[in-house]
Amino acid sequence: MEGLRRLEYRGYDSAGVALVNGGVRRVRKLGKVAELQSALDADPCAGNAGVAHTRWATHGAPDEANAHPHISGRIVIVHNGIIENYEALKKTQTERGFDFTSETDTEVIAHQIMWHLSRGGDLLRAVSLALKDLKGTYALGVIDVEQPGHIVLVRNGSPLVIGAGADGGHYAASDVHALLQVTTDFIVLENGDIARIGRDGVRIFNGELEDGELRPVERAPVATPLSPHAIELGEFDHFMQKEIHDQPCAVTDTLEGRLLDDTVPDGILGPGAAALLDAVKAVQIVACGTSYHAGLVARHWFEEFAGVPCRVEIASEFRYRRQVILPGTLFVAISQSGETADTLAALALAKKCDYLPSVAICNVPESSLVRESDRVLMTHAGPEIGVASTKAFTTQLVTLLLLAMLLGKRAGMEPAVRAGLVAQLRNLPSRLEQALALEPRIRELAQQYADKNHVLFLGRGRHYPVAMEGALKMKEISYIHAEAYAAGELKHGPLALVDRGMPVVSVAPNDHLLAKLKSNLQEVRARGGVLHVFADSGAGFRSEGDSVVVIELNAPENAVAPIVFTLPLQILAYHTALLKGTDIDQPRNLAKSVTVE
Ligand code: G6P
Repeated sequence: MEGLRRLEYRGYDSAGVALVNGGVRRVRKLGKVAELQSALDADPCAGNAGVAHTRWATHGAPDEANAHPHISGRIVIVHNGIIENYEALKKTQTERGFDFTSETDTEVIAHQIMWHLSRGGDLLRAVSLALKDLKGTYALGVIDVEQPGHIVLVRNGSPLVIGAGADGGHYAASDVHALLQVTTDFIVLENGDIARIGRDGVRIFNGELEDGELRPVERAPVATPLSPHAIELGEFDHFMQKEIHDQPCAVTDTLEGRLLDDTVPDGILGPGAAALLDAVKAVQIVACGTSYHAGLVARHWFEEFAGVPCRVEIASEFRYRRQVILPGTLFVAISQSGETADTLAALALAKKCDYLPSVAICNVPESSLVRESDRVLMTHAGPEIGVASTKAFTTQLVTLLLLAMLLGKRAGMEPAVRAGLVAQLRNLPSRLEQALALEPRIRELAQQYADKNHVLFLGRGRHYPVAMEGALKMKEISYIHAEAYAAGELKHGPLALVDRGMPVVSVAPNDHLLAKLKSNLQEVRARGGVLHVFADSGAGFRSEGDSVVVIELNAPENAVAPIVFTLPLQILAYHTALLKGTDIDQPRNLAKSVTVE
């Protein structure tokens, strides 16, 4: 149950557990793990082998019948991922006499394994035969009720780790956090691996049957530096609030060892990075969600400081498009979790194309993205639990700025400019502390949002993606419809939405676009929109009663300003959601790591 609670951020539509003890006892509940816990408190169960699951619905509504574990005859199964050919399998299985009790794609896996098991052999063999029939991505945990001493595990595109507990038990989970209370040493399964854990230990095989036999493989255990306490709330009410406040430290940790005097050493990208960096003529960034917004900010840095053209694309679009690649293009994948299915698929595609070696920007060292990329720039944000990403975003921005500086060095960046950027980065944690100190004023401002249905966010240049991220935060956790626009685009449509009382949030750094932005904001004022401006203290904005509210920030350093301006927008979304009473850390319908397409 502790493991399930720690994994809950991955999905929280329903939760279930099945324990084998003579027969099988299954308990499933709609909603959060707490609902399952109450059911188990009222009617406890025990056993020596079990599987449990928290679900983010793909096939079939979030209800109890669709909750995992699923059962077919002697087979009990939990599954992450998607089975793409489930309709064809379901047809065959129905003809074979199998009954379906759910709308999930998972049930066909259980039936397929049961079908092979009923034809002889042990569970391991039945699972490996069933895998040949499945198309899609999955991580599985499977028990045969008649061989209860073992659990068979499969990894194919969805993450799975195994840990040996100090209590002599063996455990597996889709993320190391779930098992930190029993171990910090893990075996990370590779795609195609089948493993069997039991009282007698762990055995891992390559999934292909050769002459009817599975071939054993060795997977060395790795120790994680994470502590079970790294994901405790401390003095905060929500993980999102804690993670917003973690940002000065997270940025300090991400910069640690990466600034040398007034330069960024090539070595931060690993040995021999200089040759790769020398070859870069263009950059292609691919990511999803908040990480995509980090890429959009970085595009401005790559083009401004390094003079290299940079394209940024959402991974789910990129992966289905014909690739037209400029010679010398560096492929950069950004992902907090390193497990986002679309981003991983984009990386796999890029590896087959004519890109330079790939670079991952990621927060999870054990993740698939880190393992599959050629080079890695880790963000050291610490575990991020709130579904709405905060500290992962700002630390992604820091690493992307470092990468832009490495490329800038090649493009003849003046030493004084470089030294200036290094000074801005060193100063950044204290600027972020100052931004956090605005929380009481922003909390007050949030009261004007709680009863609103729509909000516009405006920005220009590299602050346009900051506005996009502010709008995303607002919609994710407060459920208020929020749209971001490049302020210059306002007059081409969205201005029609503005009427008396419509809140328009603007990010106003003191940069070369300030005068333009001010004109755009006048257009909103003239239509009765209420302006809430987060402005640099040197930008010369003045509050006017309730219709123009200016909150000043100290963000005079231009390059890092997008990082500083992000914080008040995160805080605004947080306090709006708090007033609305939404589930801030686990907003409806979402999940933190989306390991399905
Ligand atoms: C989910 C999360 C977002 C996140 C996105 C990409 O949708 O709810 O907060 O930005 O996935 O996740 P990644 O781990 O690849 O950065």
